[in-house]
Amino acid sequence: MVKAAVLGAAGGIGQPLALLLKTDPAIKELRLFDVVPVVKGVAQDISHVDTPAVTSGHVKSDDGEGLKAALTGCDIVVIPAGVPRKPGMTRDDLFNINAGIVRDLAQGIAQHCPKAFVLIISNPVNSTVPIAAEVFKAAGVFDPKRLFGVTTLDVVRSSTMSAQAIDKPNSADEFTIPVIGGHSGHTIIPLLSQSKPALPSSLFEDKEKLAALVKRIQFGGDEVVEAKAGGGSATLSMAYAGFRFAQQVISAAFNGKKGVIAPSYVYVADNKEITQSIGKDIAFFSVPVELGPSGVEKLHPLGDISPYEKELLSACLEELPGSITKGVQFIQQPK
Ligand code: NAD
Ligand code: LMR
Repeated sequence: MVKAAVLGAAGGIGQPLALLLKTDPAIKELRLFDVVPVVKGVAQDISHVDTPAVTSGHVKSDDGEGLKAALTGCDIVVIPAGVPRKPGMTRDDLFNINAGIVRDLAQGIAQHCPKAFVLIISNPVNSTVPIAAEVFKAAGVFDPKRLFGVTTLDVVRSSTMSAQAIDKPNSADEFTIPVIGGHSGHTIIPLLSQSKPALPSSLFEDKEKLAALVKRIQFGGDEVVEAKAGGGSATLSMAYAGFRFAQQVISAAFNGKKGVIAPSYVYVADNKEITQSIGKDIAFFSVPVELGPSGVEKLHPLGDISPYEKELLSACLEELPGSITKGVQFIQQPK
């Protein structure tokens, strides 16, 4: 039985994610934390759902006791805390606010539940995951097997948008497509050539259609940001995706499920096979991750990728290292 915490639980993602986690019978305790006091009401509300998890709400306090109560003894911590985009913004535009939020929450994790699996949703994921890693390193508790950037929404979008592109909109759940790289625009690389089952060859023959599909997946977040017109970014689909990934981690780590493989943005620097398959010494990258009792059990290399996907990989590698360095420097050389 698992103790889980959601940090940023009163927000657009946090509330539905907390509700979904409450439905997971593997969770024994669910702690909801936020800076806004309404999180106590959110926890009260969710606590009436007739599933095993005992739910509590915790508000940020100056003495750190709120965070301590939320985190102590936790097995898994999911972090959707931070500001979302508005139209015209990039995810990197969120760095100035969200970097400090993730740093402070990671410090709390290092102190109160250093062995927890940490799932980071807060943007820019390409930088916030390195920030958390640096905080954990400084505290002497960094375990690369336990830190995950959540990129599942890109996986979910790849299935949905591919099904729509081939005029089978009701078959989204049939296609499993690995997504590698990072989580922003050109750093998102859906490996459509590796879809299981295979997507029709006609899609790959129509270069314009293929490029339009890839672009739609890469910039799927913008579709929602623009449609919400200043009211935030994806929340409900993200809660679904975050829950799916949390369940995958829980099932592999605590319920002994084997063969659970899901793409996630993780520390790859120590793994030569992976960095060679990427073609660059890079510290963080999303690859298919085999999950197990310790978190990351095995990282899967990129496999055969098409010439077009190689071009996408080059574009990703133009941008991603800078975002990683920005996160690392935020902790190592604070201004
Ligand atoms: P939101 O503003 O609705 O909710 C964020 C919540 O975080 C709020 O309740 C806020 O009070 C809380 N918060 C702020 N500072 C905090 C702190 N120090 N400690 C605890 N809680 C704190 O935003 P949202 O729509 O839920 O999005 C949250 C984040 O998730 C954004 O950064 C967004 O860009 C990101 N996001 C990531 C993905 C992804 O695929 N990884 C997808 C969608 C959104
Ligand atoms: C997404 O992909 O929907 C999120 O990263 C939120 C955003 O800013 O687009």
